[in-house]
Amino acid sequence: MQKRLIQGCLLFAVFANLWYSPVHSDPILGSKHDFTGLNTRAGVEAMSGLAFSDYGSSCIYCHLPDDKKDENTSEAGGVPGWNRLTPATDSYELYDSLMLDNKVRTPSPISLLCLSCHDGTMAVDMTIFQPNGWNSSEDAALHMAINESNDLTSCGKCHDGRAAHNIAVKQIGTELANDHPISIEYAGLNHKDPDFWPTESPNGFDNGVKLYDGKIECATCHNVHDPDVALLLRADTDRLCETCHIK
Ligand code: HEC
Ligand code: HEC
Ligand code: HEC
Ligand code: HEC
Ligand code: HEC
Repeated sequence: MQKRLIQGCLLFAVFANLWYSPVHSDPILGSKHDFTGLNTRAGVEAMSGLAFSDYGSSCIYCHLPDDKKDENTSEAGGVPGWNRLTPATDSYELYDSLMLDNKVRTPSPISLLCLSCHDGTMAVDMTIFQPNGWNSSEDAALHMAINESNDLTSCGKCHDGRAAHNIAVKQIGTELANDHPISIEYAGLNHKDPDFWPTESPNGFDNGVKLYDGKIECATCHNVHDPDVALLLRADTDRLCETCHIK
């Protein structure tokens, strides 16, 4: 009896650890990018087994599982380094202007990660790997994308501003010409451009605004791991722009 109790306690401890430790170590849980237990959190049974597959781990929707970290996923059509299929990159129209010094045609992998959900073309649960032990019989009935369309492959089916909050504003689309330029070399790096501040550290700026291989990416301005600032921004909107732009 006592042995059983102890076993029970141990089991509980293991479970408690499994369930609760990520909450403290990673703030993704409970944020907009946590696609586990979304139904219960949002209080809607309607999404259960319908809108997207609940893989039970919030990390897996972006990160490769630990045992697959070194795998070359390009052959599977993956975004290098991430657990996402690559969206059709030839459809992107990136920011361009006569004034722009640094031009690119294709977003870098770390921005493709974001676009694989936010361009609205691919389902949110379209990962390359599922977690070990995940049962494919739990696969969602429908695989929906961040798209405002009123159809069975779009979250917009419910997220139309009536049945649920409107999702249209989260759909960046593939025409990125109206958005801030991304995947460009930061113009302030070599102190060559007088309109931009030099960087304060090898990776960017002391307030957290971060460059990736010297480039501006979605994650330069947004930190999906820090839901404390509105819209996951790395700095408040008024200070964000002047981190780099001098005028
Ligand atoms: C929406 C996509 C997304 C989800 C979900 C996500 N991450 Fe991340 N993660 C990122 C991005 C993007 C970076 C790179 C951020 C950076 O350079 O600051 C990152 C970086 C990291 C890093 C490296 C930190 C560093 O300083 O370089 C760790 C560790 C990490 N994530 C763990 C996790 C864990 C654990 C989970 C699940 C609880 C998780 N992530 C969920 C996108 C995600
Ligand atoms: C697996 C799909 C997925 C990936 C990958 C992803 N997002 Fe999201 N993101 C979402 C969803 C879903 C929402 C919430 C939509 C809603 O609530 O209407 C969201 C919300 C957001 C928001 C708004 C947050 C708020 O508080 O309203 C921002 C900003 C954002 N994402 C940026 C990013 C960035 C930057 C990346 C890449 C580092 C990224 N996302 C990667 C699915 C994704
Ligand atoms: C069957 C209808 C339905 C579908 C389909 C659906 N949702 Fe929802 N969702 C809801 C309702 C209802 C709520 C709660 C009210 C609200 O937040 O607007 C909700 C809430 C949410 C929330 C907020 C959770 C929170 O804790 O704040 C997110 C994020 C979300 N849904 C994402 C999605 C994404 C991404 C898709 C598509 C992959 C999707 N939903 C598909 C009905 C649906
Ligand atoms: C130069 C900084 C910067 C870059 C780079 C950037 N964003 Fe943003 N993003 C912002 C700011 C500021 C806002 C809020 C104001 C606005 O809507 O324009 C925002 C808003 C958003 C929102 C939320 C829209 C809403 O109102 O709820 C999403 C989603 C988002 N960005 C995703 C992305 C993705 C994906 C990328 C890369 C393709 C990206 N961002 C690149 C600064 C940036
Ligand atoms: C990480 C540094 C950084 C941040 C933060 C940043 N920018 Fe930029 N921005 C740049 C760079 C670099 C360019 C492109 C300069 C070039 O190569 O000509 C640029 C270009 C632009 C352009 C296009 C100008 C042109 O030459 O056509 C606009 C508009 C702009 N930024 C507005 C903003 C706003 C608004 C914000 C705040 C929401 C912001 N930026 C935040 C670095 C940044």
